[in-house]
Amino acid sequence: MSYQLTVNGRVTEVDVPGATSLAHALREHLHLRGAKIACGSGRCGSCTVRLGDRTVASCLLPVALAEDEPITTVEGLSAPDGPLHPVQEAMVACHGVQCGACTPGMVMTLHTFLDTVSQPDAGQVREALTGNLCRCTGYHTIVDAALTAAAALPTPNPREDRP
Ligand code: FES
Ligand code: FES
Repeated sequence: MSYQLTVNGRVTEVDVPGATSLAHALREHLHLRGAKIACGSGRCGSCTVRLGDRTVASCLLPVALAEDEPITTVEGLSAPDGPLHPVQEAMVACHGVQCGACTPGMVMTLHTFLDTVSQPDAGQVREALTGNLCRCTGYHTIVDAALTAAAALPTPNPREDRP
């Protein structure tokens, strides 16, 4: 079946069986391989993408349910030759990346979280990241990155003004 998706601002079609996950469609049909499929069962967050104003585990979401809202993947946060998004900058600066398997999902969760909470404390960041597992960093550097990104984003965050 053919499904129309809006991914990173671009309308595109994928021709896949109805049970295909969004993660599979993104990676294998649209060649957007930022979202990783690790557990494949909704437990690790490595496949996290943004659907409208919320994050989803793209390994669990049938592509048919992703047609009605814009999808943002980690590839959509910055142009290949442009500056990184502040969340990405902060992950680099704070050494929030080791093997990198969790990183796109972490970035997408933080990107979405910081749209609604412009100046979080560490506890709020940790709570926001409960669905994203990291086996390498111990999380401290990722929390530091989130707080650094929050400080770098405009205050009040203009995205909070969105309807
Ligand atoms: S791969 Fe989707 S939650 Fe783990
Ligand atoms: S950096 Fe390796 S799993 Fe998070």
